[in-house]
Formats: sequence, structure tokens, C-alpha cells
Amino acid sequence: MLAIHGGTPLKTNGFPGWPQTTATDREALIQTIRSGNWSSGEKRAAFESRFANDCGVKHCFAVANGTVSLELILRGLGIGYGDEVILPPYTFVATLSSIIFAGATPVFADIDAGTYNISPASVEEKITEKTRAIVAVAIAGCPPDLDALSEIAKRRGVKLIVDAAQAVGAVWNGVSICALGDAASISCQNSKNLTCGEGGIITTNDDTLADAIATMLTGGTKDGQYVSVAQDHTISEFQASVLLSQYEKLASEMYVREKNAAYLAGRLAALDFVDAAAYDARITRHAYHLFLVRFNAEKLAARGVHRDQLLAAIQAEGVPLVNGYVPLYTFPCVTSDYTERQIGAKIDTTPLPVCERASYEEGCWLYQACLLGTREDMDDIADAIIKVWEHADELK
Ligand SMILES: Cc1ncc(COP(=O)(O)O)c(C=O)c1O
Repeated sequence: MLAIHGGTPLKTNGFPGWPQTTATDREALIQTIRSGNWSSGEKRAAFESRFANDCGVKHCFAVANGTVSLELILRGLGIGYGDEVILPPYTFVATLSSIIFAGATPVFADIDAGTYNISPASVEEKITEKTRAIVAVAIAGCPPDLDALSEIAKRRGVKLIVDAAQAVGAVWNGVSICALGDAASISCQNSKNLTCGEGGIITTNDDTLADAIATMLTGGTKDGQYVSVAQDHTISEFQASVLLSQYEKLASEMYVREKNAAYLAGRLAALDFVDAAAYDARITRHAYHLFLVRFNAEKLAARGVHRDQLLAAIQAEGVPLVNGYVPLYTFPCVTSDYTERQIGAKIDTTPLPVCERASYEEGCWLYQACLLGTREDMDDIADAIIKVWEHADELK
């Protein structure tokens, strides 16, 4: 019997928690407390140079979070009022809000049905003479098609910003996604694969952009003049200490996530009603902030069940498979008077078909910490999905 109807849950021993702390985190924090320098300093600089070096990128800035990092990139590129910025609607709200904070107009492009990343073909259709940038999100930690997007951006004369908030460590065709496009942005918020509670990282190879961001991070001063209206969004030494210490275990955790994800995707491939998100052959490393799962809406309809009924039953079996994003264009903040006044435009909220299907019919995910479990945990996930499917008639 299904657990949702009173049966015994398939899984009762849970999954690993997050964040996972180490003795080194504690020592690093104590050292910072004793140092007397709690503001931005040596540890921030040490993290930035190490991260830049590992990504093969010239400039790196550790900042307050993965929203201001995007805003700083946009403002640093001179993008603002009257400019259009293309983004996917299947992402966290911060991808959108950073564009509005910069004063620019967000324009939604549809997503790819296989990866749920922004679709290059849809981007191409949305470019107008006002377009200044594309923000390509690496959803779930999966690099978007950066070859196609870079080609479009170059040909159409617009900037390409990689929102790698969920994708620390991801590599596309042998190159860190932090070294691709005009700039990249990472989030180090509590749930992220590299965390210091709240934090963000900007990377770029563009010297002019780096100079503009460095100026904004000093409150907008250059050569003794206030040249830009800005705030100091740098991280404190407490956050930098934890970042440096947590960074030590990122590589080994990535290895475990990738191995478990490949195994779980293999188990799902044997089922005809569900699969893992598509995996482009040009991906060298997938960061797996999420493990994206897609149900097949037609197969579900043929059994008379909806994704959300299956998810409720799977969760009752002890597996935290949850529905993902809903389209950003449905959010009240998109059509609010305040937003319209800030950007001086109405945002196009026409529904986009692939995003609609992903949001309301097919998409769901597991959080990254599940992938830090054992091979048995992966089997439990697949077995819970199978158990629920076998009893799907009881959910009608
Ligand atoms: C795709 C995406 N962009 C931006 C952000 C914003 O990051 P933060 O929460 O650090 O501001 C997030 C955070 O969840 C995200 O997932």
C-alpha cells in the first residue's frame, strides 16, 4: 500500500543534510574573530585569487549575494533604463529582480524542453534593437548551450551574462562556465553547493567591466571622486573564511554528486514515463545543484494522474522530489505599478509553451544534498518512483 494511503514508507532513514560543516570552518571563524579585521580584507582577497585561478579567469569579486552580483555586472556594463535584457522564465526570481534593480526591461525567452535551460532559438527571436544582454541561467547547475549563445551574442552585438548561481564548478567544453560569456555570477547562499550563508561571486575577463565593478565596490569612488552611485557589497572576512574553508571540499562533493546522478539517471532511463533532464555531450562537469526530473505528461494523462499527485505520493514514501519553478511572468511583481515605474515599460507576460509544460506538467527536482547520499539512497529514489507508478490508479 502507498504510504500516502497509510502504508509503510519505502524510505525512513532520510538523506544527508546541508550545509555540512567541518572543524576547519570553526577554526577559520575563530581565527577571523581574533584577527580584529572583520570587514573585507585578506581572506576575501585570498578566496578571489584562488577562485579566479581555478576557473582560469582574470577577475573575481566576492560580494554580498548572487543577486547583487548580477546587478553589479549589468550596471558595470552600463545596462539600465530603456535597455532590454533577455532571460529565461524558468529560474529563481533573482535573475529577474537584478535586471529590474538595474532599471532595465526583462524580456522572456522560452526554455529548451530537454534541459530547461534558455533556448538559443527563442533568444534569437526576442532580440530587438533595444537588447543589450542575454542572461543565461545554468539551471540546476547544468551549463546552457554556451556555444550557440556566445555565437548569437557576438553576431547580434549584445552581452552574454552567465547566471551560474547554481553552477559553481560547472565546466562547458573544457572551460569553466565562469570564464565564458562577458561575465558570470555565482550564489553562495545557504542551499548552494559552495556556501558561506549568504554570498555571491562575480567573474570576468573584461578589464573595463572589472574596473567598473571594483569602483562600485568602493562605494563608487575613483581617484578621490564619487564617479558612480554605488554601495559596498563586498563580503565580510567571516563569510570569506567560511568560503575558503568550504571550498576545500567542493571537488570531492562534486565527484560524489556526479557519480550518483549518473547512476540515478541510468535507473530512470529504464522507465518510460519519466527521465532525467537531457545531458549535452559538450558538458565537461555538471554542478548538480538540483537533479532535474521530467515526467512524460502524455503517459501520465493516459493513466489519469497528474505530476502533482505522483509527487505527493513519492514524498510520502520518504523521497523529497518536489515540483520546480513556476514561470516568472506569472509573478505579481512583474506587473506591479512600482516595477513599471522603475523600468518605464510593461513586461511582456505572454505564456511560453515549453516553460508552461515544464512548470505545470512535467518538471520536478531533488536538492543537491540528496546526491551526497549512498548508492542505496539512489536506489530508494528510483524504487519510490516505481512503487508510486505501479499504484498510480489508486491516486485518481
Ligand atoms: C538562478 C539563480 N540566480 C540568482 C540567485 C540569487 O542568489 P542569492 O540568493 O545569493 O541572491 C539564485 C539563488 O537561488 C539562483 O538560483
